[in-house]
Amino acid sequence: MKRRAFLGSITGPVVAACAVCMGACSKTTGSDSFTSGGVSANFNVDLLTNITTVGSSILQNGIVIVRLATGNVPASFTAVQAACTHQGTFVSYNQAANKFICPNHGANFSTTGAVTQGPATNPLKVYVITISGSTMTVIG
Ligand code: FES
Repeated sequence: MKRRAFLGSITGPVVAACAVCMGACSKTTGSDSFTSGGVSANFNVDLLTNITTVGSSILQNGIVIVRLATGNVPASFTAVQAACTHQGTFVSYNQAANKFICPNHGANFSTTGAVTQGPATNPLKVYVITISGSTMTVIG
């Protein structure tokens, strides 16, 4: 696929994720150089149609939200910044390992955002979740 055709085919969440990341980046050289000061939350997620099964996740506003257990209560979910604290690559949730993994240099983070494997040394920001009925609100 030619570059122009490829770029033309990228839409939706990918573009949004890139825009959030680029806007949030404050990148310098060296270890743990990424800060995500631009990512803020205050948005709703409809739990009737999103992250309905344990282990599923969504990326919204630069935040990864994962369902860790059944039931629509805050303890059944975690919401962390998507941008790795090392150099800003978006992490993804690995259900089998129950952790977030950065595909760039292999940093790992627990579901509470703590670093479990470097090279990152700073934790992922964790966002507050509230739930009313089937509506989740992510705050931070
Ligand atoms: S960007 Fe280097 S480990 Fe994530």
